[in-house]
Amino acid sequence: MKNKDEVFKRVISHAKEYGFIFQSSEIYDGLSAVYDYAQMGALLKKNIRDYWWHAMVRLNDNIVGIDAAIFMHPTTWKASGHVDAFNDPLIDNKDSKKRYRADVLVEDYVANKIEAKIDKEIQKAAKRFGADFDQEQFEQTNPRVLGYKEKAATILKRLARSLEDENLEDVKALIEELEIACPLSGSKNWTDVKQFNLMFGTKLGASAETATDLYLRPETAQGIFVNFLNVQKTGRMKIPFGIAQTGKAFRNEIVARQFIFRMREFEQMEMQFFIKPGTQQKWYEHWKSHRLKWHLSLGMGKENYRFHDHEKLAHYADAAADIEFKFPFGFKELEGIHSRTDFDLSSHENYSGKKLQYFDPEENTSYVPYVLETSIGLDRMFLAVYSNSLQEEELEKGTRTVLKLPSVLAPYKVAVLPLLKRDGLPEIAKSIVEDLRFDYDVVYDEKDAVGRRYRRQDAIGTPFCLTVDHQTLEDQTVTIRERDSMNQERVAISSVGEMLRKEVSMSEWLKRL
Ligand code: GAP
Repeated sequence: MKNKDEVFKRVISHAKEYGFIFQSSEIYDGLSAVYDYAQMGALLKKNIRDYWWHAMVRLNDNIVGIDAAIFMHPTTWKASGHVDAFNDPLIDNKDSKKRYRADVLVEDYVANKIEAKIDKEIQKAAKRFGADFDQEQFEQTNPRVLGYKEKAATILKRLARSLEDENLEDVKALIEELEIACPLSGSKNWTDVKQFNLMFGTKLGASAETATDLYLRPETAQGIFVNFLNVQKTGRMKIPFGIAQTGKAFRNEIVARQFIFRMREFEQMEMQFFIKPGTQQKWYEHWKSHRLKWHLSLGMGKENYRFHDHEKLAHYADAAADIEFKFPFGFKELEGIHSRTDFDLSSHENYSGKKLQYFDPEENTSYVPYVLETSIGLDRMFLAVYSNSLQEEELEKGTRTVLKLPSVLAPYKVAVLPLLKRDGLPEIAKSIVEDLRFDYDVVYDEKDAVGRRYRRQDAIGTPFCLTVDHQTLEDQTVTIRERDSMNQERVAISSVGEMLRKEVSMSEWLKRL
């Protein structure tokens, strides 16, 4: 049994080895918390984005999609509250001069000093009890494990309370009480905890004197809010209706870690649903359940998701919940569902002096709509899918690494393999590729023994391999091998297109929603 760290390291190294994700500017030793999606990763990421876009925009008459610019008028960020309140609590070590996120120092302490002990107990017990080991029961009954869990929960609860109350003195006191040392200098010589704004600034204009200060957007949502009336009017949209978009967002995250979980440049998939004031509770429940249904439709295990309802709410919200996913390092936020009231539109009204109201023809009255937001990180969703899919399987002879991606998201849907590089088999295989490539991403592979080629496709998550052999010459059939079961059967070449449509096409998966 591998521990959490080993599992996560394996995810990162596999993503690099098979061309999914590379560190940005690697030849210059990389840029921290910035990543590039490679040939496989770009396809997987695009498929996740499409699955979200089609579920939100194509399948809903009352949701339209836009693509707003990254640069926005700087007053946008004053109105949204980001200039004044988009902060992280930071602390400096006076000896190493290194800056840390104060909450992360405490979370790391819990992970490394307490949760690591729980992992150790589990590993020890698993060794002792062998095949009979019931991890769940062990975690629920072992007194040492229960003690560690309680200690961890007490610390994290106090941290959450102090942050919610903006009691930064108590965050510092907690760091001192836990005797947390700087990982670099080993010293416990800390400054006070201070708030630090996460937005990246930049300049627009030719000369330093005339240039305007701009921000790289820290969320895509504001591009939707400022376009609310344009879209409503030109699209003749009636409330309730939604505006969706996907796009880059930028945050100067001080803690660069956990691979693509927390990045400085990342992509969001957000939808603002404009509703009549007073109906927000109904729509909040609606979108919570719809978004969870979307996640569950991918078949990654109900037990890997949970809701976390926020007790203390942001200044703009009257209800908020996260959909958390079980990443290799534990349950963490994957998506947020926020009831944002009329905060954003009203604030943009105030700052711009322009009315952002909806005329309700049925009630013959105008109002500033309330907003229900769904907001998910595309990169975080990528990590959820990828880490959940990567598995090492014991076989009768050896092991195999297989990426059990939901087939609708797999980079290649099918690999076509001639058994030998002669006797006309490559020609038939290539003609199958030509037929399929208009509908699917298909790969042709003739190098190495067929068993090795299967393993290569397993490792990048290709759901089906078609093998062309000598029997194909006689009866126009091929062997089709399914990735997860490794079952093989013979099918007519003419039936492959229809089989793929049923199994891997986005339209079939979307119908199950
Ligand atoms: N408009 C609301 C909003 O931006 P958020 O909770 O700050 O809310 C929404 O972000 C989602 O964006 C998160 O649930 C997460 O999936 C993703 N996200 C946020 N910060 C991120 C980062 N630094 N790296 C990767 N994904 C991030």
